[in-house]
Amino acid sequence: MREADECAKLAPMYDATESGARQPVAKPSLIRQLLAIRPVQPREQAGAERLKQALSAWSLMSIGIGATIGTGIFVLTGTVAANQSGPAVTLSLLIAAFGSGLAALCYAEFAAFLPVPGSAYSYTYATLGEATAWFIGWNLLLEYAISASAVAVSWSAYVINLLAEAHIHLPAIWVNAPLQESAAGHLVATGAIINLPAVLIVAAMSALCYIGIRETASATNFMVALKIGVIVIFVVAGLKYVDPGNWHPYIPRNTGTFGHFGWTGVLQGAGIIFFSYVGFDTASTTALEARNPQRDLPIGIIGTLVVSTVLYVAMAALITGMVPYFKLNDAEPVAVALDAHAGLAWLGVFLKLGIIAGMTSVILTSLLGQPRILLSMADDGLLPPAMSRCHPRFKTPHVATVVTGVGAALIAGVFPLDVLADLISMGILLAFAVVCIGVLVMRHTRPEVHRPFRVPAAWLICPLGALVCVGMTYFLSNATWIRLVVWTALGAAIYALYGFKHSRLRP
Ligand code: ALA
Repeated sequence: MREADECAKLAPMYDATESGARQPVAKPSLIRQLLAIRPVQPREQAGAERLKQALSAWSLMSIGIGATIGTGIFVLTGTVAANQSGPAVTLSLLIAAFGSGLAALCYAEFAAFLPVPGSAYSYTYATLGEATAWFIGWNLLLEYAISASAVAVSWSAYVINLLAEAHIHLPAIWVNAPLQESAAGHLVATGAIINLPAVLIVAAMSALCYIGIRETASATNFMVALKIGVIVIFVVAGLKYVDPGNWHPYIPRNTGTFGHFGWTGVLQGAGIIFFSYVGFDTASTTALEARNPQRDLPIGIIGTLVVSTVLYVAMAALITGMVPYFKLNDAEPVAVALDAHAGLAWLGVFLKLGIIAGMTSVILTSLLGQPRILLSMADDGLLPPAMSRCHPRFKTPHVATVVTGVGAALIAGVFPLDVLADLISMGILLAFAVVCIGVLVMRHTRPEVHRPFRVPAAWLICPLGALVCVGMTYFLSNATWIRLVVWTALGAAIYALYGFKHSRLRP
């Protein structure tokens, strides 16, 4: 078997490290320990039997699309058009898709050749060493657990609105975050107690992830079909209401403030709207549950990005054509475009249900990905071993699923969306840049290993991918940079106190 052959070729890299560790050798220097490389284990040795191999190429793409299309397209498209890019939000989307596409190619190469659940964390451990791998694993928490929380917050807002339209009004103190960001960028109390619907949806989706991968995949397939159906119907039905005059000027003149329209606005918009593409790599975390990961993971990852980009650009072009861009600064911009045209009233409830289904699938698949990364980190000794325990009957990483669910529910209940979204984009952009560089490093250190999928012109695509991803972080706000520093410091403290000492690579 090809996979087994490749794994056999990788094995000596382990043996060298592990057999070295068993000898009474001198303690390696701190730098050597921080840079220690742990090549990813062959699938057979990674404990695949703990989990159920139930995912086809379609299921993997469905998980990817399920994790990707959500709040970004239904909320941020409108707010970025109104505040940063104008009708050129389509250009911001394409720039973000370009950066994500380069990273997707790199993910596809890694995922096909190292099909393990740790995703970017494991790829980094195999190429750039332990400390960088921890940093990436810590940032993947943003991509999965925290983005589940962020999307649960907008899910809650949409559901409350839908209930209000049906004249069901819930007490404000139970449906809002107790904290919000002040104009000065500080967190202040709002008087609310907790965002209960956000907590409940995270709890419900965690329960589904606990029960089984097959059940999770079926629920994801249903919700993905519904959200794609709704977007396609909306785009087709809305076409005749487009006024091309709304697309002029395509890039509104800069107001004199950096990032407020003009080219800086388009680029800042790309950095913010990058959040819409977060999740396209989620399929890579289910590598141990895929039936044929080496063939199907590249299909799942690249297919997700292509489908998402086409739908995003179509949707953004449509809503900025249906209403002037400055009217879209709303928590429900798609509804603003719809309400502006009485002929589309019939679509109202259907559209909202599709949007809610879309957000639900993002929450579900994010909560699916996170425990599998925790499992990998625990297998490597960087987290407590309980995180890698799997349920004997459900064959899911149930302890990590519960821990993720409780953490994500608490964050969803307490924080507002805007505080979370930019931090997520920042963390993931850096993770993507590291994956791009990792491909080049692996080509150099393990040139002989067969790669079922290869990044074309890697010497160009990989550095360009890293450059575009890092470049996009430049346009995110200073407050986001400060939050990233705090986040990284917190992660470094946990690594210093636990992971560094318990790493499997320590003698
Ligand atoms: N990409 C996901 C969304 O837009 C996180 O909701």
